[in-house]
Amino acid sequence: MPDVDGTDAAKQYYTDVPQTSKRYFLKGSDSLDWGMKNRLGRIFNPVSGKTVMLAIDHGYFQGPTTGLERIDVNILPLEPYADTLMLTRGILRSIIPPDTQKSIVLRVSGGTSILKELSNEALAVDIEDAVRLNASAMAVQVFIGGEYEKETIINMTRMVDMGTRYGIPTLAVTAVGKDMVRDAKYFRLATRICAELGAQYIKTYYVPEDFETVTAACPVPIVIAGGKKIPELDALRMAYQAIQAGAAGVDMGRNIFQSASPIAMIQAVRAVVHDNEIPEKAFDLYNTLKK
Ligand code: 5RP
Repeated sequence: MPDVDGTDAAKQYYTDVPQTSKRYFLKGSDSLDWGMKNRLGRIFNPVSGKTVMLAIDHGYFQGPTTGLERIDVNILPLEPYADTLMLTRGILRSIIPPDTQKSIVLRVSGGTSILKELSNEALAVDIEDAVRLNASAMAVQVFIGGEYEKETIINMTRMVDMGTRYGIPTLAVTAVGKDMVRDAKYFRLATRICAELGAQYIKTYYVPEDFETVTAACPVPIVIAGGKKIPELDALRMAYQAIQAGAAGVDMGRNIFQSASPIAMIQAVRAVVHDNEIPEKAFDLYNTLKK
């Protein structure tokens, strides 16, 4: 067969240059398949290794949450500042423009409401729909210590199995029942169980005491939820302390969209997460942008 695109002499094979092989930037993720790494790399910024996920999925069990009554009006203006949108397929299809460049973390568990036992969830989205929606990850609630602990763990492991088949990571969301103690001991237990059973990354709550033991004992990345609305400076302090204690980002909702200035707040959170800005400086940024 003749060489159709030129002479052998013109080709350059760099025979003395070994092929490079870079380790994947995310903790515990080096053995994942290419598609899964590529999707995680759309959630976590490969330069900072962190993510600012904007959580707007609260309606899946509590209806039109304060700040989320009109996602088209209140949330779309925040989209440019988020790395990822975490939401339900209903909101994705009805409100989010399909030309968004942001990665999508799709809420796939559900089936309960605030009127009943919250831990009684099932898988509420088919993996095929996650593929169709080009999800970068799928989020499943896991209630360790909750009434339906086992069922929610199995929801997660089923999603991990299906996600592995299609190359889509599973985010395990550790949900804490009303009567349970939120401390490092509990979150070490909950996050480690989710990681051991295959979740590619985990969302948990920040606790001021010993949070670094939670991230240290968890072999995959941890992101923190924001929780109930607190003053902006306190929320920035929480995000900062979590990052300094080893968190790989935030999946924050109410402390952004219920802020007096959500656009300023999400930018201040970005500064803390991606640039290691100290909370007081990030709060200055918030106040400057707010004006
Ligand atoms: C609901 C969720 C939310 O996405 C999560 O709680 C993050 O939002 P917030 O920062 O408002 O706590 O997983 O179950």
